[in-house]
Amino acid sequence: MDWRAETQALREQALPEIATDDHLLALDERRVRWLGRNGLITKLLRSIVSAPDAERREFGAAANALKAEVEAALEHQIAKVKAAAPDSRLTEQDDLTLPGRPVRLGRMHPISRTIREISRIFLSMGFEAVEGPEIEWDYYNFEALNIPKGHPARDKFNTLWASNPLGDDPSRPMLFRTHTSPMQIRIMEQRKPPIRVIVPGRCYRFEATDATHESVFFQYEGLAIDEKLSMADLKGVLYSFARQLFGGERKVRFRPDYFPFTEPSAEIAFDCFVCDGSGQKDGGRCPTCWGSGWIEAAGCGMVHPDALRRVGYDPDKYQGFAFGGGVDRLAGLLTGTPDIRLFHQNDLRYLESV
Ligand code: PHE
Repeated sequence: MDWRAETQALREQALPEIATDDHLLALDERRVRWLGRNGLITKLLRSIVSAPDAERREFGAAANALKAEVEAALEHQIAKVKAAAPDSRLTEQDDLTLPGRPVRLGRMHPISRTIREISRIFLSMGFEAVEGPEIEWDYYNFEALNIPKGHPARDKFNTLWASNPLGDDPSRPMLFRTHTSPMQIRIMEQRKPPIRVIVPGRCYRFEATDATHESVFFQYEGLAIDEKLSMADLKGVLYSFARQLFGGERKVRFRPDYFPFTEPSAEIAFDCFVCDGSGQKDGGRCPTCWGSGWIEAAGCGMVHPDALRRVGYDPDKYQGFAFGGGVDRLAGLLTGTPDIRLFHQNDLRYLESV
């Protein structure tokens, strides 16, 4: 057969065949039959080299045109089959009346919920919620807070040091912040009084864990700077916070404490919202406050004049108070969680129950 007749014969066979295929698998086989390594059109193309010189050019053009036509026909038919049978994966055994699988809805983690609640309460008193870096310079975490190298207060922070990916500079060590207090300095550096901020955030200490301690935990830091601020303002703000968080007429207990960056310093506790400060519950020891009647909430005090001077504030003009407490502990109290480690074990059975 001469190449003209052969090309035409192949065309007349291939195109109608392809047009009747109604299944993707059949079309795949069809492609192999015509265009595969041993396909009929592939063979035709191979025979071009042995055609007489004078006809080779014309034959080549015709054979390649046929190949293009068949490819286009295959593509067209595949699109047609796909459009006609969108549910081709369904079989008669599929039961379309079965109810769908329930979609699992997420919810907020109890720690996040507690942070929102704390922030909401302070927001209502005119504080602004801000966040700070979890990897911190030694300067902000310690130095600027009156805790120079060698100061004994460093010991209680059980610091996790970090290496700087840009190269370690021994004069500027980096660490996982051990508290949110470095944000006191950062905020004062950035702003001018009056300042009222609340800083919730993750902190780290190299500690053995137990029911009330975690090496990764959350704190909320409060800072207020203005003219004529006093311990009375601190007490009033925390008193209002306690009543809004726990409800009722909460009492606030101040006891002297020591922090290098506040003077005077205090530890605050709220009277227990479960036993109303009696320490007794159902004829026994109150499980929430362990019978003490008090819930220790935070460290606090008046911002140290040296810290004010360090950021360029005049301590004769400006005073301020700061406080910092643990979020996990409060989340535990609010959700009745006996062991704060449950918050980070990510057992959904527990997290969904609180
Ligand atoms: N940062 C202190 C701590 O983690 C708590 C604190 C904050 C004390 C602010 C005073 C003022 O122990």
